[in-house]
Amino acid sequence: MTTSDHSGMTLLDFVRYEQRLTGTKIGCREGDCAACTVLVGELKNNTIEYLSITSCISPLGNAHGKHIVTVEGTNLKNKLTTAQEAMKANYATQCGFCTPGFVVSLTGFALSNSEKNYSNALDAISGNICRCTGYKAIEKAVHQVVEKLEHQENQSFNWLIENGFIPEYFKDIPKRLKALKAKDINQPKGKYVSGGTDLYVQQADNLIDSAVHLIAEKDYLKGISIENGICTIGTNSTVSDLWNHTELNAILPNLKKHLKLVSSEQIRNMASFGGNLVNASPIGDMTIFFLALNSDITIINEDNKERTIALKDFYKGYKTYDLKDQELLKNISFKLPTKASYFNFEKVCKRTHLDIASVNSAIHISIENNIISEAHVSIGGVAAIPKYLHKTSTFLKGKPLTSETILEANDILQHEISPISDVRGSSDYKRLLGRQLFFAHFTELFPKTFTLNDFVQHA
Ligand SMILES: Cc1cc2nc3c(=O)[nH]c(=O)nc-3n(C[C@H](O)[C@H](O)[C@H](O)COP(=O)(O)OP(=O)(O)OC[C@H]3O[C@@H](n4cnc5c(N)ncnc54)[C@H](O)[C@@H]3O)c2cc1C
Ligand code: FES
Ligand code: FES
Repeated sequence: MTTSDHSGMTLLDFVRYEQRLTGTKIGCREGDCAACTVLVGELKNNTIEYLSITSCISPLGNAHGKHIVTVEGTNLKNKLTTAQEAMKANYATQCGFCTPGFVVSLTGFALSNSEKNYSNALDAISGNICRCTGYKAIEKAVHQVVEKLEHQENQSFNWLIENGFIPEYFKDIPKRLKALKAKDINQPKGKYVSGGTDLYVQQADNLIDSAVHLIAEKDYLKGISIENGICTIGTNSTVSDLWNHTELNAILPNLKKHLKLVSSEQIRNMASFGGNLVNASPIGDMTIFFLALNSDITIINEDNKERTIALKDFYKGYKTYDLKDQELLKNISFKLPTKASYFNFEKVCKRTHLDIASVNSAIHISIENNIISEAHVSIGGVAAIPKYLHKTSTFLKGKPLTSETILEANDILQHEISPISDVRGSSDYKRLLGRQLFFAHFTELFPKTFTLNDFVQHA
């Protein structure tokens, strides 16, 4: 279909108010409840990949050339789908407001490439909130869906159709998308929008009417490559792109565990690294991640001129950074951890999932003969900017890996940070968290050498 609607309006408003598909619900309009979940299908190398997103914070223009599936689009003619039936059979719906969101997320899980186990199915609904059921009945419904999927090695469209997960018409979608000659949409000068997950929370009303320049589909901002020990990540890559990257998961074995702490699956599917870095939140998780990897960023201007700077030099003050008007972040690059180096990320927030950090921290440390040959430590939530700890990192270099070194480094860390009291905790609490997360890096990375008591007793 085509539309002349403004590309900055939200996909949710288009679906409900223009298409009158009211199964997609409006809850928070901030990406926090997933009542508005839809699937986005995109052709990639001749196959179609479906991802779940929260439509309330996604610009309509990002749907260009894609297959958008609302809950109505999952319906079968004369019976419930497998996901709908599982919700019904397990009494997983009460007022029903959240139910379409859960059904769409579970259908997205069935369509996804992820291994079909219970834990991954829970990830798929990690953004969906229900006020009524207490979740136990929903968990049972999830089990029922997983039972149907888990022993089937290849869930082709045909198999999913035969087993009532999706309607018949899905078979034709790849052909229909291939045939679609999507014209470029008019891209006026205006606010750059990638996934929209920050912007549409902060200023949705402005964006709906004003000029937006959608960058999510710009090819030169996409892709993850690894060459000669250097990883380069296009800034349009999303947290899910990193999550699904086989080679990086092998190099960073705890990658998924770390990324699970970042928002929800729906948000991870949209959240770009460019957006995370330029949002400049002092607690941006991916910013803290890339700071500890001692990353460089490449910036490109309108004349295609590029410049590269260290990420740690990018931030100048609260929400201010070294980026001129009409400049874009192009990519992020960093030296990959080696066999002699270790990476860790820690985050504390009021609830484990779908919450922003009170304090977060990351470390990349190299050890040779029990001597720290290189160290990069970053911390968020304790200063006006996402902070690379220059002095702490320099101090660690060349020191033996002992509890004395770590205790001394913590004293330096405490002088480098300047937390303020706010809704996420008092300044003293954040100092304590800064200390505990710093110690946690070492107990996580070297569990045979250190316990938390080694540090806490002497701190
Ligand atoms: C429910 C919810 C939960 C969240 N949870 C977390 C969390 O746990 N951890 C976390 O860190 N964040 C979280 N976020 C914040 C957000 O998802 C991330 O910061 C995300 O990475 C932003 O990316 P985006 O593509 O959506 O940015 P957008 O909203 O599209 O853009 C954000 C800013 O970056 C600019 N921009 C984007 N790309 C570029 C580029 N290439 N060059 C120059 N400027 C650019 C835009 O102009 C804008 O100013 C959450 C958000 C929501 C709604
Ligand atoms: S309405 Fe709550 S996430 Fe969209
Ligand atoms: S059934 Fe009421 S919100 Fe989930």
